Amino acid sequence: MAQRLNVTYNRKPCYDIVFSTGWEDLTEELAEMELKERRICVITDSNVDPLYGEEMLKLLEKVCKKAVKFTFTAGEEQKNLDTVKEAYRFLIGEGLDRKDLLVALGGGVVGDLTGFVAATYLRGIDFIQVPTTLLAQADSSVGGKTGVDFDGYKNMVGAFKMPRLVYMNFDVLKTLDDRQYFAGFAEIMKYGLIKDAEFYAWLIENMYEICERDVNVLSEMLMRSCTIKKLVVEKDPTEQGERAILNLGHTIGHAIEKAKNFQLLHGECVALGTVAAAYVSWKKEMLSMEEYYEIRDMFVPFCLPISIDGIVPEEILKLTKSDKKKQGDSIKFILLKKIGKAVIDTTVTDEEILAAVKEIYFDDEAND
Ligand code: GLY
Repeated sequence: MAQRLNVTYNRKPCYDIVFSTGWEDLTEELAEMELKERRICVITDSNVDPLYGEEMLKLLEKVCKKAVKFTFTAGEEQKNLDTVKEAYRFLIGEGLDRKDLLVALGGGVVGDLTGFVAATYLRGIDFIQVPTTLLAQADSSVGGKTGVDFDGYKNMVGAFKMPRLVYMNFDVLKTLDDRQYFAGFAEIMKYGLIKDAEFYAWLIENMYEICERDVNVLSEMLMRSCTIKKLVVEKDPTEQGERAILNLGHTIGHAIEKAKNFQLLHGECVALGTVAAAYVSWKKEMLSMEEYYEIRDMFVPFCLPISIDGIVPEEILKLTKSDKKKQGDSIKFILLKKIGKAVIDTTVTDEEILAAVKEIYFDDEAND
């Protein structure tokens, strides 16, 4: 039996997040959307298409007039306006109109890009999120942030566009490769760290089951992390204030992602950025030394990096300036007051950022 959470937007019920195993419940959800006379376009990438593309089309054909699929090459490098243009051309060619529907089938890149296409094509058409990675299920599919990278700036062009439904099929997590799976876990840790110390403790207690991908534990883990995200985005859907705490680890994380030419996964960079943010929090006497080391070391059993080589710390500092999480000239840095409580801080200095990057920097050559 599927579980669900409703997310409100401006205090009105807006969309459900449905937690399920398998695809059957998705057919039912779509049947209720009255799509019999509508066309549906699945947008997916070259990794996900061979796994679920055809199955999804068959399922959709049962509930709509015509189902088609647009597939682009997988990878963060494709999350740009060129791919958006190709998607527009495809939709125009297939004659999709404003009452039709898009389905984002994939990870964070697919979800962000499809959402942006949905926000802009014909001034906006409906879309649903069907996230297939842990990162997309735990974070990016919920909350209506959509967009693409532009000229090397991450998520620089985008829109807030709420989906009509987020459908999470836990079965897809079983076949994710380990690297993708654990990268998603960085965002889950984030929810405990920023808002819920009990959830953080629960993650530690259930470490073994999480690593083994026990479906009951996964289901509770995603329900709890999505509930935290829901509560934050409901209060501040367009990030005028508190929603920014969801960016813990992202300022330095995005800079590393860019410096490494997107060779590391987003979640891996978020883990590194979170260690750096916890370090700044310790140095600013918000966290104790013990808390800092506990947070840092918590990433290790989940196969996430806590140090990195092959970067130039000064370059990372420079790149943090081009991240969009800025307020005037100062960076909106997310720090931890304690485990379970994040704060927005605009006073972090260049020296503090540099010291934090040096803390996570592992100089390979010096260790030869
Ligand atoms: N991923 C951060 C947010 O949705 O605000």
